[in-house]
Amino acid sequence: MYILGIETSCDETAAAVLNDDNSVLSNIVLSQDDVHAPFGGVVPELASRQHITAIEYVVGESLEKAGVKLPQIDAFAVTQGPGLIGSLLIGVSFAKGLAYYFQKPLIPVDHLESHIHAVFLENKTIPFPAVALLVSGGHTSLYLLRNKLSFERLAKTRDDAAGEALDKIAKYLGLGYPGGAIIDRMAAKGNPQKYHFSLPRMTDKILGYSFSGLKTAALRTIKDKTITLEHPQLDDFLASFQKAIVNALLAPLDEIIKTQAPKSLILCGGVARNSVLRYDFQHLAEKKNLAGFIPSPQFCTDNAAMIAGLALEKFKNEGEFTLSLDLNAYPSKLKKAGKIRKS
Ligand code: KG4
Ligand code: ZN
Repeated sequence: MYILGIETSCDETAAAVLNDDNSVLSNIVLSQDDVHAPFGGVVPELASRQHITAIEYVVGESLEKAGVKLPQIDAFAVTQGPGLIGSLLIGVSFAKGLAYYFQKPLIPVDHLESHIHAVFLENKTIPFPAVALLVSGGHTSLYLLRNKLSFERLAKTRDDAAGEALDKIAKYLGLGYPGGAIIDRMAAKGNPQKYHFSLPRMTDKILGYSFSGLKTAALRTIKDKTITLEHPQLDDFLASFQKAIVNALLAPLDEIIKTQAPKSLILCGGVARNSVLRYDFQHLAEKKNLAGFIPSPQFCTDNAAMIAGLALEKFKNEGEFTLSLDLNAYPSKLKKAGKIRKS
C-alpha cells in the first residue's frame, strides 16, 4: 500500500509518500521563506499564491523520488487544519481532486496531532502514557497520549506561542526570517547567563504557558541596552533570551510528570529543532528516568511525512475512509467544532 500526504497549512508546500510499513519513501518540502522574508513574517495571501504555483510540482517530485506512479497510490491524506484558511484550501482541493479522479479514500489529518505523531515515523511504538510538548510557530501546548491515536490537551499558551516570540524578537532586531533558526545559530556563540529574564509565573496557578511577558521584557532590554545588529553582546542577548524561552517551556513538566505519571516524553513542532531545547529536554527526561523522544529535525518543522504517517495510522485503526467531497478545511479547532458564532 502507498499513501500520499499533502501539507499546505502555512508557508511550506509539502508532499510525501509512505508505504504501509510506515517507511518514508519521499518527503519533499518547498519553503516560501524567500517570499516572506522581506516582511519578517508570513503574508497569508502570498502564501496561498505560492501554494497554487508549487503544489503540482511538489507532489510530482514526491512521487518521482518514491518511484511510485499516481495510479499506484491507495489513499490520499491532507492537512485539514488548523492553519491559514487560504493555504489549507489549496491542499484540501488538490487532494480532493486526486482522490476523486482515482476514486480512492481521502483521509483528513489535524496538523497539530500530526506534529506529535511524527515521533512514530522513526519509532514503531513508545511507552504509554506519554506527555507531548508541542512547540511551533503558532502553538505551544502539552498533550497526554494514552495510545497512538488519542490526543488530550492538558495545557496551552494564553498568548504568544514560543516560536512566535522568537520570530518577533528576530524581526524587531532585523535578524531575518524565520527568526527561531537564526537565533539558534547566533545564540550558540553567546553566553546565556549574560542577561537575566524571569520565568513567567501564572498568578491563577492554572497550568499553561505565557510568552508575551518574556517578549516584552526582551523588547525592554533591547531599548535600555540599545541592542542592535552591531552590538558586541548581541549573541549573549540572544542566548539569554533563548535560554529563558527553553526554561519556560520545560518548567511545567515537573508538575505534569507528577500528576500524569507518564512513561515517556515527546518534544515536537518546529521549535523542537532548537539545539538548546533538544539538549535540555533529553537531560530532563533522563533526570526523571523517562524515555525522551524527539523527531529528527526534518520531521519537526512542517512536512507531509507526518501527515501521511498519522493518516496511515487512522486508516489501519479507524476502518474504512470513504471519499467525502464535503470535506472542508478549518482554520482553528473552535471553527471545526462550530463553537465560534458568525458575527
Ligand atoms: O511547526 P512549524 O514548522 O510551523 C508551525 O506549525 O507553526 O514551526 C515553525 C516555527 C517558527 O516559529 C520557527 O522560527 C521555529 O519553528 N523554528 C525554530 C528553529 N527552527 C524553526 N525555533 C528555534 N530554533 C530552531 N532551530
Ligand atoms: Zn506546524
